[in-house]
Amino acid sequence: MTEALLQKAAHILQVNDLGNYTVPTHGLYPFQWNWDSCLTALGQSHLNEDRAWTEIETLFDHQWDDGMVPHIVFHKEDDGYFPGPGVWATNRPVPTSGITQPAVAGFAIKSLYDRSKDKAKAAERARALLPKVFKWHEWFYANRDPKGSGLVAIIHPWESGRDNSVDWDDAFSRVPTEGVAPFVRRDTQHADPAHRPTQAQYERYIWLVQTFRNLNWDNSKLHDASPFQIVDPGFNGILLRAVSEVAALASELGETKIAQASLAQLDRGIDALEGLWNDKLGQYTCYDRVADRLVDSPSIGGLLAAFAPIPSHRAAAIADTLNKQSQNCNFLVASHDPLDPNFDAKRYWRGPVWLIVNYMIANGLHVAGQTDIATRIDNDSLRLIETSGFAEYYDPITGEPCGGDQFTWTAAMVIEILNMSKAAA
Ligand code: DGY
Repeated sequence: MTEALLQKAAHILQVNDLGNYTVPTHGLYPFQWNWDSCLTALGQSHLNEDRAWTEIETLFDHQWDDGMVPHIVFHKEDDGYFPGPGVWATNRPVPTSGITQPAVAGFAIKSLYDRSKDKAKAAERARALLPKVFKWHEWFYANRDPKGSGLVAIIHPWESGRDNSVDWDDAFSRVPTEGVAPFVRRDTQHADPAHRPTQAQYERYIWLVQTFRNLNWDNSKLHDASPFQIVDPGFNGILLRAVSEVAALASELGETKIAQASLAQLDRGIDALEGLWNDKLGQYTCYDRVADRLVDSPSIGGLLAAFAPIPSHRAAAIADTLNKQSQNCNFLVASHDPLDPNFDAKRYWRGPVWLIVNYMIANGLHVAGQTDIATRIDNDSLRLIETSGFAEYYDPITGEPCGGDQFTWTAAMVIEILNMSKAAA
């Protein structure tokens, strides 16, 4: 069974591999996406180490001069996706989008290095990527935390990866739609519109893109100009885990300055994260910087923070919350609490399970010693694949597949989870 799953997963990676980068799935997402690639590299590393490094190196070849790593690299033309390079107009040699995505890269390169068989070669590639990843982290703290709070804000829902989370609803209602140029969505031609964000949300996504474009994508201006500034514990949790892995890798490779600066970022971030803890919900929650208030919303962002080196009593409380959730859904982890009235089992990030988030939560909880619940999450992930194949995401109640199929990061996570549990056994 395991062998057959591994083979199917490897086949999907191969089908979506365009040589030096991998598309998330043909049709719906025909370019290179930032966090997709870094998570994909984890799966690739078990099949072909060299290819895994290349995936991340290709992404960093398109890092901006200011340090940002864009969320999409438009390596070639494809009319099947909206908004394409013409809408972003970022004026790059190879077109890219103008916003970023969760900073998984630091975690990914440390994992690739740790598990590499040819350590000398891996050290060479890690050493070349390390300053670039560190520069991206510095970019985050300089541009998305201008007041030095220790936590960074996203300025577009697409940056979080959780495009249409309930967490954004209030803040997003402040984003206007006047002046949005007419457009034709492509996503709903590839996937069931009932599984995707709504038209009203799309108009706001595009309003933000147009506004940032009018500011020439000058990152020193975008944060303050955005009516949408959200401090997401999941996004910060990923960044902080990456920062801690960069600190460890840098110290192993003798890059003392990067190690020390990363440890300082980590300490400040972990302290500041404490301000997002919500005892009633048993998880972290978002903070709306423009409205200056915490967002009382039980979504997966506050559980995903368990990927970071948070205090052990917080990891234990998140484990309790997940245990409670397991009584209300068949497959952990729902992207929104199934008991909340806003839960929507099939619509993108308003309820469905995503294997990449499962993997990151379980990974953090394994590290924190919360083995039972972490193993339960891993097993639920594999049960979903056996029930419904390699989908983009799944209904947490019925396990039905949603969104795109033959999905790269889902396949990569299966390879990763199976190999990790083999290694732990
Ligand atoms: C999309 O187009 O659905 C993406 O999530 C934006 O990156």
